[in-house]
Amino acid sequence: MFLRKILMASLLLCGATITVAQESRFGTPATQADIDKRFWSTFPDGENLPDGQGTAMLGKPLFEEQCTICHGTPEARGENDVLFGGHGTIGTDKALATVGSYWPYATTVFNYIRKAMPYTAPMSMTNSEYYSITAYLLYENGIIGEGDVINKETLPDVKMPNAGNFIMAYPEVPEEYSIQK
Ligand code: HEC
Repeated sequence: MFLRKILMASLLLCGATITVAQESRFGTPATQADIDKRFWSTFPDGENLPDGQGTAMLGKPLFEEQCTICHGTPEARGENDVLFGGHGTIGTDKALATVGSYWPYATTVFNYIRKAMPYTAPMSMTNSEYYSITAYLLYENGIIGEGDVINKETLPDVKMPNAGNFIMAYPEVPEEYSIQK
């Protein structure tokens, strides 16, 4: 009887392990839904921005929880890329490229963060949380107000300070070779 109980328990544990393995689906072909989730990009004009919204006020605690460990704060640099400040340094010998000083579009900042950050768990937050964190970075870089609502309508209208300083590397590229959306 005791032995049977142990056997049952082992079978149950074994079943649990198999279920976990099946859920993570390592080694199985990606479904169309998996592919759609990953192959999704927001373009500079805001095309493909998702629903949801956020503000810098909501973004601050999220940033402190999810990002500060690597990127520091506006006051203190972290181990990884600096995201604040550096305004007016691009083109000088003290160039500091940050989200505020360098990036040309607020829409692609959102896209990058949503797809790639937090570094160890990309796409793990909700779209509204990603909007809030983007808003917080824009606010701390002096680009928007603390309570400005950022969503798919307002984000494309945000003007980044360095937007006008990019030049086309290949102005003569024939139409057929230009990047397709
Ligand atoms: C575990 C460390 C880690 C965490 C946590 C993390 N990042 Fe990053 N982040 C990085 C690294 C490393 C890079 C550089 C990646 C590369 O160049 O490929 C980076 C790059 C970036 C960049 C691009 C900077 C630039 O100017 O090119 C942004 C924006 C960014 N992270 C935002 C965030 C936000 C927002 C969060 C929180 C949601 C976050 N990161 C959390 C490590 C981290």
